[in-house]
Amino acid sequence: MTHAKPLFSWVHATDLHYEQPGKASDCLNSSDPDNKRLNCFINDINRLQGPQKPEFLILSGDITERGSAVKQELIQAKETLSRLQVPFHILAGNHDLGPNREIAAVYPGKEDYHEGPLETSNFFQVFGPEGLRFSFQRHGFHFVGFVLRDADPDGPLDWLQAQVDAIPSRGIVIGHYGLYPARTAGFLLKWGFSRHEKCLPRLQSIINGANGRVIAYLNGHNHVNSVFKNEKTTHISGGCIKGGCTGYRLFECYPDRIATRFIFLSDPTLWNFNCWGQTDPGRCIDDTHPTPEDYHRGTPSEQVFEIPLTPPSPNT
Ligand SMILES: [Fe+2]
Ligand SMILES: [Fe+2]
Repeated sequence: MTHAKPLFSWVHATDLHYEQPGKASDCLNSSDPDNKRLNCFINDINRLQGPQKPEFLILSGDITERGSAVKQELIQAKETLSRLQVPFHILAGNHDLGPNREIAAVYPGKEDYHEGPLETSNFFQVFGPEGLRFSFQRHGFHFVGFVLRDADPDGPLDWLQAQVDAIPSRGIVIGHYGLYPARTAGFLLKWGFSRHEKCLPRLQSIINGANGRVIAYLNGHNHVNSVFKNEKTTHISGGCIKGGCTGYRLFECYPDRIATRFIFLSDPTLWNFNCWGQTDPGRCIDDTHPTPEDYHRGTPSEQVFEIPLTPPSPNT
């Protein structure tokens, strides 16, 4: 049976990389000191109407460029996000809460490591505990979000395991970091895992151990749009608002499927399919992405696809 209207819609967006106005970053080739992309995203979301109007957004980290080091940047990002007319759940990424001391030494001022209790970190002080983990249920779908620092000093993996164990079916788990490479060759075969590699085996075990009760795992961090199925979970990298693949992903949930598509920002002059200056075809192609632009924005089948659902058990 085909259902014409979704039960509800929601949006996943990631890697906003808010910058303090006028303070250009040298980290991304796509520096946007006026935050034009973030502002376009907010306007685009506020314009969604009808069945596409999301009940909520999930923003999966790297909310800021330098929030781990500059609390004011997080405060200003929060003020900017207050223009959203849709409720949102937010998580910290490595630019908001540095993952380990090794990375902090390489990127001082951008991924500073917070030595004190998590409760005294910049991100916690600005966004509170709900910015570090969330778990809620909507229309039979269970959403779990978590924030991870390398080697798990804050204990979210025990919490995540308990949350996943409690999901009866139709779980959707969101973190900042991917569980597997987003591409089969090129720089993304290895890039980005140095932020969470100590936690990776357990994280993979938690999601795969759910044996299909986690139907989708969403992440950011690599700034590309990708999708693949591993075990019984669909893994989705959500692109990036800032640069690499400038847009967000809309999910429309039906009783028998999730229909989803990546939506690029409405202003094409803001599109950016070249993150971290990665344009070398030798580093930005793989078997199914023959050009650097394809590598960043994903194939058509990665932009629009469906996740079929089995009927929920009677007690869910
Ligand atoms: Fe990022
Ligand atoms: Fe990141």
